[in-house]
Amino acid sequence: MQRIKIKELLEGAEAGHDVLLKGWVRTKRGNKYVNFIAVNDGSTIHNLQVVAEADKFSEEALKDVTTGAAVAVTGQLVASQGKGQAYEVQATHIEVLGKADPEVYPLQKKAHSLEFLREIAHLRFRTNTFGAVFRVRNALAFAVHKFFNEKGFVYMHTPIITASDAEGAGEMFRVTTLDLDKLPRTEEGAINFAEDFFGKATNLTVSGQLEGELAAMAFSDIYTFGPTFRAENSNTTRHLAEFWMIEPEMAFYDLQMNADLAEEFIKYIIRHALENNRDDIEFLGQRLAEEDKAKPQNERQEMTLLEKLEFVANNSFERITYTQAIDILVNSPAYKKKKFQYDVSWGSDLHSEHERYLVEKHFKKPVIVTDYPKDIKAFYMRVNDDNKTVAAMDILAPGIGEIVGGSQREERLDILVERMKGVGIHEEDMWWYLDTRRFGGCPHAGFGLGFERMVQFVTGMGNIRDVIPFPRTPQNAEF
Ligand code: 4AD
Ligand code: MG
Repeated sequence: MQRIKIKELLEGAEAGHDVLLKGWVRTKRGNKYVNFIAVNDGSTIHNLQVVAEADKFSEEALKDVTTGAAVAVTGQLVASQGKGQAYEVQATHIEVLGKADPEVYPLQKKAHSLEFLREIAHLRFRTNTFGAVFRVRNALAFAVHKFFNEKGFVYMHTPIITASDAEGAGEMFRVTTLDLDKLPRTEEGAINFAEDFFGKATNLTVSGQLEGELAAMAFSDIYTFGPTFRAENSNTTRHLAEFWMIEPEMAFYDLQMNADLAEEFIKYIIRHALENNRDDIEFLGQRLAEEDKAKPQNERQEMTLLEKLEFVANNSFERITYTQAIDILVNSPAYKKKKFQYDVSWGSDLHSEHERYLVEKHFKKPVIVTDYPKDIKAFYMRVNDDNKTVAAMDILAPGIGEIVGGSQREERLDILVERMKGVGIHEEDMWWYLDTRRFGGCPHAGFGLGFERMVQFVTGMGNIRDVIPFPRTPQNAEF
């Protein structure tokens, strides 16, 4: 008999058939007449209840059917008499494929804390919460490709190892095969990277954008979707040292078109998850509601997770300039009551507390902030006519803060070269990037969506470590 997955079984179920089911035991309970075994195979949040009657299965036969064990079950699919499920399997045969000794198996029936589960990340996929989170993550990743494919964008694989620092922030992991105990030196005493594997100093990329721009100058519309790396020592609930980013880049787009695309994109992938993973999102919503009950009234969410996602998918984002954002913040009750830890003034970057005030308290919806001061933004952003701001955009999301960063790019060679000089980037090192401005350059724009922050938004998970299978953060590269 061919194995059937639980999702498929529940969707097209017809009672009366024999089925072969394989999965992992979540719970076993029973009495001297009958045992009820909940089996999950990861295809859906729902378990399938297996009924093993004592006259067919001795205690001995079921002794290894314990939480965590892998089993193969054959039996008849029948309408369930019990609460909570429409179908169950009346077992005729149960084979234990892999035992999980209850004395040492770390996952118990009771709910475990997210912190504890992070320490056993190799097993946490087997919980309802992480099952739901990673199925939603999968749905979102699929929707990313679907969205861009439908629009005729070309998926471009940009390099992971690079010699350039796209964001100019110097937060890179070095890639080297040099012997760290015997570093080759130049005559001046510096490390001689000419002897390194690539003949120059290289790093893990912080962004695929620069190479993405090269491709956009031939295909018009491209996107990247890959891992990026940042050695920033920020131990927050929104930062990872290794995270995935989606970076579309479009020739002949200005900032407005860029913002329109980003908004359409975010709504599209949320809708896809709502349509395809509703059970998971409902489960995660209940989880959040439970968590909320423990909080003081004024810190509770105004909307359920489902309501929030429906709201964001169906309403337009607010759009304001950086200068307007500063005005709102300076005139806010929070500012006047000195509730912000960091000061607000034109020219300084918005901190996450400011971003969250704007989206959560002031507008109560996602906000696209544009036209930031040029001194706080990357060298590639197009300088506005005021010569003080750049055509940048950040999208801020409730509960998250910055979820997208992007801009129209500086296509004017002379201004770009000036900007690079200003931040100490050598023209010679970036000749290939500058060539796009020399040969058939054109107005273009793009943005980067932090994939894990997007997954956080859709799943409602508070800590970014809980939406990537094996998080990389300072002092932590287990698994
Ligand atoms: O704003 P960022 O630094 O922009 C870029 O990298 C541009 N090259 C994008 C582009 O225009 N093509 O990063 C983009 C997004 C942020 O808005 C945030 O969502 C996410 O990437 N991000 C991180 N996510 C997790 N951990 C980190 N350490 C992150 N740093 C940025
Ligand atoms: Mg940014």
